[in-house]
Amino acid sequence: MTAPALEIVHLVKHFGGIPATQDVSLKIMPGERRLIIGPNGAGKTTLFNQITGDFRPTSGKILLFGQDVTRLTPHARAHLGLSRTYQIITLFPQDSVAHNVVLGLMGLKGARWNMFRPLGFYAELHAEARHMLDRVGLGALAEARVGEIAYGQKRRLEIAMALAQKPRLLLLDEPLAGLSSEERATIKQLIAAIPRDTTVIMIEHDMDTALDLAETVTLLHYGRVLVDGPRDAVIADPKTREVYLGH
Ligand SMILES: Nc1ncnc2c1ncn2[C@@H]1O[C@H](COP(=O)(O)OP(=O)(O)OP(=O)(O)O)[C@@H](O)[C@H]1O
Ligand SMILES: [Mg+2]
Repeated sequence: MTAPALEIVHLVKHFGGIPATQDVSLKIMPGERRLIIGPNGAGKTTLFNQITGDFRPTSGKILLFGQDVTRLTPHARAHLGLSRTYQIITLFPQDSVAHNVVLGLMGLKGARWNMFRPLGFYAELHAEARHMLDRVGLGALAEARVGEIAYGQKRRLEIAMALAQKPRLLLLDEPLAGLSSEERATIKQLIAAIPRDTTVIMIEHDMDTALDLAETVTLLHYGRVLVDGPRDAVIADPKTREVYLGH
């Protein structure tokens, strides 16, 4: 039997006694496209932070591809094929677009600048970065400083960086936030083109765009899973209408 890409078991996270994740259990299968929705403060990003290891849960378990990673570092989880984007942009604005991608790749490979490494190693990383930028339509901006490119291009770059790591599980935290409808369409295309051997979990408030990309949906509310299942069933559920759609 195939192990789930992600399994979360009775996860609890308190911030100074205030619960942000309350007994969350989830199972996401390889290749699945899962959308996580819920009002502001529902605990969506906090859940991502525990999956990546940025936050240590108060209790509960997280399994990646059948392996218990609850006590593993973020770096170790990245090595198991986990990659993410952040709700707030985390790029280096002074560096070039291509160099940001290279730094991302080096971070994963644990490769600090090392004079004993063959030069070909860095050339290879650069070639990989270029290839990825071409793929997402940012090739012409490879040498531009990140601080000077448009917001929508930065968001695209972040997704490109996450994809450059060839993740088996990709977490996207509000990839469409703050974008024009044109930029949203570009990002939507980019996400839709992600190969099936990458499982995708996306947090998003823009339901119009995100629902098209989702097969399954989880509704979080006050840190709890309120509704969970196939997209259309979750959307039709009266609890979803009540909490999220406001009618
Ligand atoms: N580092 C932290 N320290 C203390 N409290 C936190 C921390 N991070 C999140 N919280 C709290 O946890 C709760 C859930 O926050 P979280 O950011 O996960 O919500 P969200 O569902 O991602 O919301 P949004 O849609 O606004 O991004 C909130 O009450 C928030 O204030
Ligand atoms: Mg959030």
